[in-house]
Amino acid sequence: MNNRKILATIAAGALALGLAACAPAEDGGGAAGGGGGEGGLVGVAMPTKSSERWIQDGEAVKAQLEEAGFEVDLQYAEDDIPTQVSQIENMITKGAVALIVASIDGTTLTNVLEDAASQDIAVIAYDRLLRDTEAVSYYATFDNFLVGQQQAWSITNGLGLTELDGTAIDGAPAGPFNIELFAGSLDDNNAFFFFNGAMDVLQPLIDDGVLVVKSDQTDIEQVATLRWDGETAQSRMEDILTSQYSGGDKVNAVLSPYDGISRGIISALEGSGYTVGAEWPIISGQDAELDSVKAIVSGEQYATIFKDTRDLASKAVEMTVAVLAGEEPEVNNTEDYDNGVKKVPSFLLEPIIVVADNIPEVLIDSGYWTDEEING
Ligand code: BGC
Repeated sequence: MNNRKILATIAAGALALGLAACAPAEDGGGAAGGGGGEGGLVGVAMPTKSSERWIQDGEAVKAQLEEAGFEVDLQYAEDDIPTQVSQIENMITKGAVALIVASIDGTTLTNVLEDAASQDIAVIAYDRLLRDTEAVSYYATFDNFLVGQQQAWSITNGLGLTELDGTAIDGAPAGPFNIELFAGSLDDNNAFFFFNGAMDVLQPLIDDGVLVVKSDQTDIEQVATLRWDGETAQSRMEDILTSQYSGGDKVNAVLSPYDGISRGIISALEGSGYTVGAEWPIISGQDAELDSVKAIVSGEQYATIFKDTRDLASKAVEMTVAVLAGEEPEVNNTEDYDNGVKKVPSFLLEPIIVVADNIPEVLIDSGYWTDEEING
């Protein structure tokens, strides 16, 4: 057994003890309740604190790893690629036994990950696929194509065309409805899955003339938003409103892949005189960020996609413990996530569409947000 496996066996034992005792581990909590770092150091690399979800991801992964008996080095790179590379190098230098990585740009970590692999350090891709490298063992994420379909179904539902699961509604309006499209960052593999999932639903409606994209911008390269930045999205939306909608036509729907982008789109709409209630468009989103959940309550945003970061963290921690113990983690997809070098075995969790009606059931009952946080 090599060192990594010995540490992992201890960690797996600590996980079992920790779960049996159900005791939250405090620093220096000793062996009985898990904690204490006997499992070794795990490096957790997160992209940025500028979006709420990654803060929740980081906290959930750290807490669960500590409970399983690991020491944790959690780092955020503020969306700066060299910073993320040097954070991961540092984790390797400190003797990490495993790395859990949510990349900024999935293609830029090849060298540092090869370095990790050469030292027998396990690498788990977290939420975003690590591309162009052999050195990734497993991938924990959500069903990203389904996320995109759900974003489109939230639009078609808001327009009265379908149910939230995409089922056509009898006697639905014929349109045409004006829609504009936004996608995420092209250096994030997920952006393609979200956009392709959404276009799987929207393209037939565009072809039939039910939906009209007045800007004519329908390729992902035209509609992408570098680093998922809300201000970038806001200025693109402002340009579209000025160039396409100054003559009196209204935009009826906007496909947005992420809540921060939706907030940029909402600012652009407000700035050009749209008001909620009167011809306000249907806008999608993702991540159930608190401000955006409030925007759903107030009617500015129609829907978001809830991806429970606590469940994703559990999956990533389970994978890490299994790999370190020399076992095969549970996966449910071995086909769809080709990283350019290999198909990475993945576990895909189920995303959920959130609209005003199911906020209590999905977000409050699950303890993700409190009623007080949402409704003040
Ligand atoms: C994540 C989304 C998130 C986006 C922007 C994607 O990789 O899957 O949940 O909205 O990044 O942070």
